[in-house]
Amino acid sequence: MASHADQGHDIGTPGLPWAADGVDDREAHQETISMRWRLWRNRQIASARFRSLMARLPLTRWIAQRKANQLFQLTAGFVHSQILSACVRFGILEHLIDRTLSTAQLAAACQLTHERMRLLLDQAGRLGLVVQPKPGLWMLDDAGAVVAADAGLRAMILHHDALYRDLTDPESLWRSEKPDTELRRYWAYVRGDAPNTVTAEQAAPYSLLMRESQAMFADCILASYDFGRHTALLDVGGGDGAFLMAVGRKHLNLDLALFDLPAVAVRAQVHLAETGLLTRSRIHSGDFATDPLPSGSDCVTLLRILCDHDDARVANILSNLHRHLAPGTTIVVAEAMDGPSEGARLAATYFGVYFLAMGSGRCRSADEIKELLAAAGFQKTQTIATTNPLLATLVTARR
Ligand SMILES: C[S@@+](CC[C@H](N)C(=O)[O-])C[C@H]1O[C@@H](n2cnc3c(N)ncnc32)[C@H](O)[C@@H]1O
Repeated sequence: MASHADQGHDIGTPGLPWAADGVDDREAHQETISMRWRLWRNRQIASARFRSLMARLPLTRWIAQRKANQLFQLTAGFVHSQILSACVRFGILEHLIDRTLSTAQLAAACQLTHERMRLLLDQAGRLGLVVQPKPGLWMLDDAGAVVAADAGLRAMILHHDALYRDLTDPESLWRSEKPDTELRRYWAYVRGDAPNTVTAEQAAPYSLLMRESQAMFADCILASYDFGRHTALLDVGGGDGAFLMAVGRKHLNLDLALFDLPAVAVRAQVHLAETGLLTRSRIHSGDFATDPLPSGSDCVTLLRILCDHDDARVANILSNLHRHLAPGTTIVVAEAMDGPSEGARLAATYFGVYFLAMGSGRCRSADEIKELLAAAGFQKTQTIATTNPLLATLVTARR
């Protein structure tokens, strides 16, 4: 069998299935100088002798080491996630909030042997979760302080157990159109054609996760868009009302409304009543792809909504919104989007696989979302960068 290097410059034949994405003409397969250079370069890098030479030469050693470390990180990244998961599961980071503890104290608190606690803390130290100000004494490091402070982030980390399980059979996952995965069962509204029938039991786990993970997300959106310019806001797919609470507390004169599936709307009613915001809020229920949406809001938010759905369904959702919203209404789409920044690329890599396992949705670029909005009839689309592209980018448009 020919080795990768032996295959030389044969990069595919026009007209055959491996023709370049969306391009099928002969020109697309003409090798450019940069393609030839890249093929030559790849052949060098594939050679153990070349890599060994690069590692020995003083001027190239650091590049060789950096590349080797990057590849190792790629190979072993799942171990890093599991160390983080163990720290969260044992509550180590929370135990260290605002104090230092010894290995023995942490071992007792987490019911681990001293030896195992030491091993886990050493690993957590290597990953920037904890530090040792003195031998045997532990404090939170920067990343650990963030995870310890954010219950939503911890809930997301724990919920990744389901994703890990879904990823254990990559061949069937990548081949199947609608995989029978845990995530697909978890996000009950992506299955079937009748989201309105999602039950309270099905809605509870995902609604709680969304509520808990709203804190950072809402901060990021509120820091990037001034909702004070509007008089009434409708949060479509607003879940338990966590964003409504955050925006309502910041903008005291804003009228608040929420629309979600019946089982979730009941939860929102209870949650907003508990937090004293129900008197300022109207709660509506239905299917946002087919049912009428309430009138009277000059701003509509779609937070972490479109990414859950395939293009055809997004087209239905946006057309339905366009049909029912008054001319002049501003629509604000906020979710993790693909893009050139490092944060956007990291988010797109993560969500690309997450939505694959969910069997629905995708991480789109702001331009793709603008195109979907424009196709549904919305105008004046605009991209707004946020403080944290890992979490969200905003796209606004006018009905
Ligand atoms: C990923 S969650 C996002 C929740 C909230 N916007 C947030 O950012 O925390 C998606 C929300 O859309 C709601 N949803 C899904 N399909 C729906 C539909 N067809 N009609 C109305 N709401 C729907 C879900 O119940 C859920 O609350």
